[in-house]
Amino acid sequence: MLKKALENILSEKESMELFSSFDQVGEIIVLRIPDSLQAKKKIIGETLLEQVKTARSVFYQSSPVEGEFRTRSLEILAGIDNTQTEYKETGCKFIVDVEKAFFSPRLSTERERIAGLVKDGEVVVNMFGGIGMFSILIAKTKKCTVYNIDINPEAAKLCNKNIEINKLVGNVISIEGDSSEIKKHNIENKSDRTLMLLPEQSDKFLDSAILTTKNNGIIHYYSHIHADKKSDAPKLSEQHFLETTSVKSTILGSKIVRAVGPRFYQTVVDVKIKK
Ligand SMILES: C[S@@+](CC[C@H](N)C(=O)[O-])C[C@H]1O[C@@H](n2cnc3c(N)ncnc32)[C@H](O)[C@@H]1O
Repeated sequence: MLKKALENILSEKESMELFSSFDQVGEIIVLRIPDSLQAKKKIIGETLLEQVKTARSVFYQSSPVEGEFRTRSLEILAGIDNTQTEYKETGCKFIVDVEKAFFSPRLSTERERIAGLVKDGEVVVNMFGGIGMFSILIAKTKKCTVYNIDINPEAAKLCNKNIEINKLVGNVISIEGDSSEIKKHNIENKSDRTLMLLPEQSDKFLDSAILTTKNNGIIHYYSHIHADKKSDAPKLSEQHFLETTSVKSTILGSKIVRAVGPRFYQTVVDVKIKK
């Protein structure tokens, strides 16, 4: 339907390029527009807004996801200039701000996988928790306590809101701060499971992850790995983890989460640590 709507404006090849970089989050559409289509971006935005009845805003993503907060700059193309919206996933509701705090609908499969691994009674530390997507989905599925740490004040604020609307006060604890300050947050040897979803900097924070995790606890270590052959990426990330860790570690599994560039993959290694 969308292709049809844009057929007078775009060639077949152009519309293919555009749709691979199209995300709808609640009532907001975010588009990355290739240089070749910059001149048409306004009309593309207006046409999409007209055609997608569930959308109230179309934004153009004018920067990559960048900086310490992993956020992006957006430019309004059509509709209401408000970057907050409500997003639903697996029975939970989230207030999301697509510009002020990190959010990706593309991690939903990984969120489901992690929530499925957690057992009742666990303590989880989510070191780079953002607005609480993983933390809330985990705590909704299992009777557990999740510490959601994020250095971005906007993310921590939204996480608190999301805890309230999902009725998880006391089950998920939002901490605004730096995950390298485990002692300051009073969460040394606290977690049965630690999530490290800051793939660009996992190595820098691995010692903090080890510090917050109990003996025999599990770390989900995310990284970006270059691999000429896609099928090599998980094994390469396991090797990288084993070269980096300072404690005895048993690999439980590894996989590709998503492709992040040509021959570049976001991977996750699940590890049990001894300390
Ligand atoms: C890739 S995002 C992941 C967010 C979240 N896990 C999700 O999937 O929605 C990484 C997050 O780490 C946060 N961050 C970056 N450096 C940090 C630090 N030193 N301590 C705590 N959080 C940090 C950023 O603000 C960002 O929200």
